[in-house]
Amino acid sequence: MYILGIETSCDETSAAVSKDRNILSNTTVNQIVHTEYGGVVPEIASREHLVLIDKVVDKAIHESGIKIKDLKAVAVTNGPGLKGALMIGVNFAKGFSIANDIPIIGVNHMEGHLFANFIDSDNIRYPFLCMLVSGGHTQIWLVKGYQDYKLYSTTIDDAAGEAFDKGARMLGLNYPGGPEIEKLAKEGVIDRFSFPIAKIKESKFNFSFSGLKTSLYYLLKNKSSELSDSDKKDLAASYQEAILNALIQKLIYVSNETGVKHMVISGGVTANQRFRSKLSNLVNEDKSYEIIYPPIKYCTDNAAMICVSGYEKLINKQFSDITLDIYPNLLMSE
Ligand code: KG4
Ligand code: ZN
Repeated sequence: MYILGIETSCDETSAAVSKDRNILSNTTVNQIVHTEYGGVVPEIASREHLVLIDKVVDKAIHESGIKIKDLKAVAVTNGPGLKGALMIGVNFAKGFSIANDIPIIGVNHMEGHLFANFIDSDNIRYPFLCMLVSGGHTQIWLVKGYQDYKLYSTTIDDAAGEAFDKGARMLGLNYPGGPEIEKLAKEGVIDRFSFPIAKIKESKFNFSFSGLKTSLYYLLKNKSSELSDSDKKDLAASYQEAILNALIQKLIYVSNETGVKHMVISGGVTANQRFRSKLSNLVNEDKSYEIIYPPIKYCTDNAAMICVSGYEKLINKQFSDITLDIYPNLLMSE
């Protein structure tokens, strides 16, 4: 079954075509216009989506080699995300659905990240733990079956990606901060500066990254001289290490609690190579762990994952209709 996927929840305008879970084409435009503002400007994101959406969809369909009439459904992200940005994708998909007389399927963006792990795969093995680490979320879910999700961990303040972005900004780096910090950290010393892993009173599974950001702020504020290049590299490496250690520590806690050692990791931060190598070390130390993550190109926002998540809904006959609304604050289990 051929599916058109559309993703416009933040600052990527993306469309993809899949045959079941196999991706035939995926076109993603990263809206670099936001770089000069140091973060995503919601109103500009919506306008850019509006300019780009029909060209991006055309390109994805053209490159897939199929005809519009072959499509079985159009799947579109309807939350969580930026209101105006979501609206562009959803309204475009509604028009596409009416014009071509095919059903529309609303897809949860976070569920999309989860299913990014199953792009091009034949089947999905449950149960597993799913860690979602993006610019807006840091969560660990126990996934017992399709749409049978239990939330074990979440952040009580900033998301991990947000901690990368805010830290990068303090270090004078560009947005998005994750890749910038990673680049700098490659040549830095990971234990020159100490950044604490927050302990949360209410639940040891939860995350907190705002203290980390504050530590960096005071370190920079109280410095006695201008930062050298090597100071910056060491700061980036130590800061990155603290975020990644927190992610891995909580993942192990939840794994111990649930007894589940099969894990999938998704979201923009999963593009981080140091994160991947630390996860590999974990598996090398304890072979009973099995950890998978999507190819780098499917870690950050893309429509391929919306196709695959839409396919899951299609085979479960979960269609939306023309009244499909947007939900900027949707949880994965909703
Ligand atoms: O999933 P995503 O593309 O968008 C959201 O739904 O938020 O994630 C974007 C986040 C940003 O905070 C960005 O800094 C972070 O993922 N990110 C990274 C890397 N690439 C993207 N963080 C660390 N290392 C990276 N290589
Ligand atoms: Zn995302």
